[in-house]
Formats: sequence, structure tokens, C-alpha cells
Amino acid sequence: MKTACITGITGQTGSYLAEQLLDEGYKVYGLVRRSSTFNTERIDHIYDNENLQLIYGDMADYSSLLSFIGDVKPDEFYNMAAQSHVRVSFDIPEYTFDVTGTGVLRCLEAIRKSSPKTKFLQASTSELFGNSPPPQNEDTPFHPRSPYAVAKIAGYWATVNYREAYDIHACNSISFNHEGERRHETFVTRKITRAATRIRLGLQDKLTLGNLEAKRDWTHAFDVARAMRMIINLNEPDDYVVGSGEMHSVQEFLELVFSKLGLNWKGFVEFDPRYLRPSEVDALCADPSKLKKVTGWEPLISFDQMVDNMIDHDTKLAEKEKLLKDSEDK
Ligand code: NAP
Ligand code: GDD
Repeated sequence: MKTACITGITGQTGSYLAEQLLDEGYKVYGLVRRSSTFNTERIDHIYDNENLQLIYGDMADYSSLLSFIGDVKPDEFYNMAAQSHVRVSFDIPEYTFDVTGTGVLRCLEAIRKSSPKTKFLQASTSELFGNSPPPQNEDTPFHPRSPYAVAKIAGYWATVNYREAYDIHACNSISFNHEGERRHETFVTRKITRAATRIRLGLQDKLTLGNLEAKRDWTHAFDVARAMRMIINLNEPDDYVVGSGEMHSVQEFLELVFSKLGLNWKGFVEFDPRYLRPSEVDALCADPSKLKKVTGWEPLISFDQMVDNMIDHDTKLAEKEKLLKDSEDK
């Protein structure tokens, strides 16, 4: 039986990876950090799977990573854990660098010391490109625009360096934005689908946003997890851009979601400068030709289908909330 370790298994992409690897017959070990509230909601549906084992640890704690990797000696290791919010990284830059940057080095060092045959995949990001204009591919220069992106650059190069220096099978998935029903509500797409579906049922009356002009390449997280599994299993470790190649602005996303719900966004959206970033990334759009050529990867879920899935999911949540509210009001 093949084995895989996932850090960040309780996060959006980690949860899809876990599901897909279990479906493929792997034994999956997930690193979970201690929290005073439940943080396993995204993996509740696979919690009882006999091939899933959760282990406490933290990206800031080398000894826990060394035990995690040394005890399991997995065939594959997916490093999904990070302080992943770009805006928040301006508020907690040092913490972000430790967990999102140095944390990668800790994982690689633990692999080098205790399980050098383990294949490693780092969740790198299109944020590395920053303000290099789109389309971006593996040859596009990096120009990070946030403490998060600076930390991710360190993680990217640590991955390349351990491949070159120690012959570790280490690769980067340079993923563009990925979204879906499990996206946290502080990221713009889910913030919009949650708000619009609640507004339609009278549970909320306005939505406050920042920069509507930013453009992103939004793919479903399910498809990005598929790409990561393909990348780690190639014979030669390498770095690949992962994204659909389709770009939309935040305003286009907003218009689409509200219009699908029969609403005009202009009546509900307010601007708040608190959501602006000290330095913004204006436009990201993947050129995934290298990945497509080598693996044949294509997203199975289109942008429009992803938006529909998010709206359907959040409509159900809003309907439940409305039912509860109406019964309490009676
Ligand atoms: P996410 O939903 O924010 O999940 C992050 C995961 O990291 C969560 O499981 C979180 O645990 C865990 N984590 C955070 N700090 C930790 C620590 N100190 N020790 C151990 N675990 C810790 O992120 P995502 O959207 O799934 O993204 C997965 C990875 O891909 C991240 O590294 C992100 O930076 C990167 N990435 C994401 C995108 C995207 O658009 N989604 C694009 C490019 C790259 P809790 O559940 O306890 O918070
Ligand atoms: N979060 C948020 N909230 N973003 C807003 C808002 C708002 O109210 N209003 C406008 N935006 C704009 C941001 O300024 C940004 O330009 C864009 O919407 C997308 O913001 P996020 O959804 O927070 O994602 P991100 O692109 O900054 O970062 C995500 O994608 C990266 C890959 O490119 C994260 O998942 C990162 O972890 C990931 O690396």
C-alpha cells in the first residue's frame, strides 16, 4: 500500500488531496495543528476512513515534523500547510515567514535526515510572479508583492535547492488561485458567494469589498489537487505552473454571481479601504502549457461550473440558516 503525508490536510486543497489519495488506495497521514476550536470540518466526511490517520504537529515545530516524516517514511509528501492569506501576511509578517517559508525548509530537512526517498511537493503560488504581467509560466521572473509571497519564494527555492543539492525528488506546483465550496470565507470568491446567497434570502443587506479591478485565474481546488498528484508522480522532479489559463476580474466574478441569483450587485456592494493591500497583485493568468504537454492535465470543472457549485452549496447553507431564524422568530 502506498503512503502519503499531507500537511494542511484540514485546509481546502489538503482535504481534496486526502480524498483523492484515499480513493486511489493510499494510506494517508495528515498533520493537524492544535486549535481551541474544531478545525477538521473539511475532512469530517472521511474522518472514519481506516486508511486515514491524523497526527498532531505544527509547521513551526521541527521536532514534530521530524517525527511525522521519520515515523511514517511516506512515499509522497504534500506540503499544503501555510498562513495562506495575503492581506493578513501584512499584519503578521514574521509569523507568516516562519510557517509559510521556514516551515518548508523544516519539512525538507526532516525528509533529508529521516526519509530521503520520499517524494516532496511544495504548494507554491502564482503570488511569486507578483507584478510580472500575464500570462505567467515557469520562465516568468518573480516579483513578490507581500510578506506571504516573499515567504513562498523562500519555500520555492528551498525545494529547488534540496532537489539540486541532495537529489531529493522535490517539485513545486506553482498554483494559481483555486476555489470552491470549501474555500474559507475570507477569500474573495467565497466571500461573494456566501454574501450574495444570504442577501437573496434577506439574511444580509450589504457586502463590503476592496479592490474590484484585480484579475485572477480561478480554478477549482479539486482540479489543482489532481495536478499536484500528477506532478509528484512524474519520473523527473520539476516545477510546473498550474492554472486554467482563463482570467476574470473580481468585478466580473461579482456580476456573474449576483446575476445568476437574479440580483444587481450595484445595489448591495460597498467599498472599504481596509480590504486593500499595501501592495497589490493586479493580474494573474496561467500559461499551463508545460503541465499540459507533460501530463495531459486539463481542468475537469469549468469556471462557470465552479461558480454554480459554490452558489448551490451556499444557497443550501443560507436556506438552513433562514429556516432556523424563522423558527426562532415564531
Ligand atoms: P488553507 O485552506 O488556508 O489551508 C491551510 C492549511 O494549513 C490548513 O490546514 C491550516 O490548518 C494549515 N496550517 C496553517 N498554519 C499551520 C501551522 N503553523 N502548522 C500546521 N498547519 C498549519 O489553504 P489552501 O487554499 O488549502 O492552500 C493550500 C496551500 O496552497 C497553502 O500552502 C497555500 O499557501 C497554497 N496555495 C493556495 C492557493 C489557493 O488559491 N488556494 C494558490 C496557490 C498556493 P487549520 O485548518 O488549523 O487552519
Ligand atoms: N480577500 C479579499 N477580501 N480580497 C478582496 C476583497 C475582500 O474583501 N476585495 C477585493 N479583493 C481582491 C484582493 O485585493 C485580491 O486582489 C483579489 O481580490 C483576490 O484576493 P483573495 O481571494 O484574498 O486571494 P489572493 O489572490 O490574494 O490569494 C490567494 O491566491 C494565491 C494564489 O494566487 C490565496 O489563496 C493565496 O494563498 C494564494 O497563494
